[in-house]
Amino acid sequence: MNSKAIAVMVSGRGTNLKVILESVAAGHCPVDVQLVISDKADAAALEIARQAGVPHVVYLNPKDYQDRAQFDAACADLIDQHSCQWIVLAGYMRILSSFFVRHFPKRIINIHPSLLPSFAGAKAVEDAVTYGVKLSGCTVHLVDEVLDGGSILAQSVVPVLDDDTRDSLHARIQKEEHKLYPATLKRMVEQGFSIEGRRIIWAS
Ligand code: GRF
Repeated sequence: MNSKAIAVMVSGRGTNLKVILESVAAGHCPVDVQLVISDKADAAALEIARQAGVPHVVYLNPKDYQDRAQFDAACADLIDQHSCQWIVLAGYMRILSSFFVRHFPKRIINIHPSLLPSFAGAKAVEDAVTYGVKLSGCTVHLVDEVLDGGSILAQSVVPVLDDDTRDSLHARIQKEEHKLYPATLKRMVEQGFSIEGRRIIWAS
């Protein structure tokens, strides 16, 4: 197993994938993006991956599989075949099956556009604006079987402005995501961490 090899799972625009690949190319993020998997044929992220020369770029159609577990098993097989140590979710919109999460314990990472545990779920930015919080942000966390519930690796704070809409706030949160995600992956690979209860303790 190459401890720097990562698989990135995407469904959409792929701006986080893009900044990760740019950080790698610039020598700022010592991971090796071996594999990108998309569950959407038209995800812009697929083209970003191909253009950057990712060795294996794969679209899997969920409709070709009997159920979620079968689809996830196909993804897990690809990840294992390419010996990826880490699975990085970057705008991946499918809920992972228990099978998949248990197959890669403490090896799946996600970025979420709120300060967890506030505003888990698919409408995080909209929910934060509606609730009226004055601070939001983004969270990089390990993935376990609870939706957006795994141990927190890193967070960045973004103020919510009085005239913010979902889209304006999301745009500012994404700017932070684009710094936080590559920086956290670098730390994970170079520094490492242990886990005490729910707490991530970064190695010194
Ligand atoms: C990000 O806001 C991330 O927090 C959420 O999905 C969005 C993905 O954006 N999980 P992109 O596809 O990386 O541009």
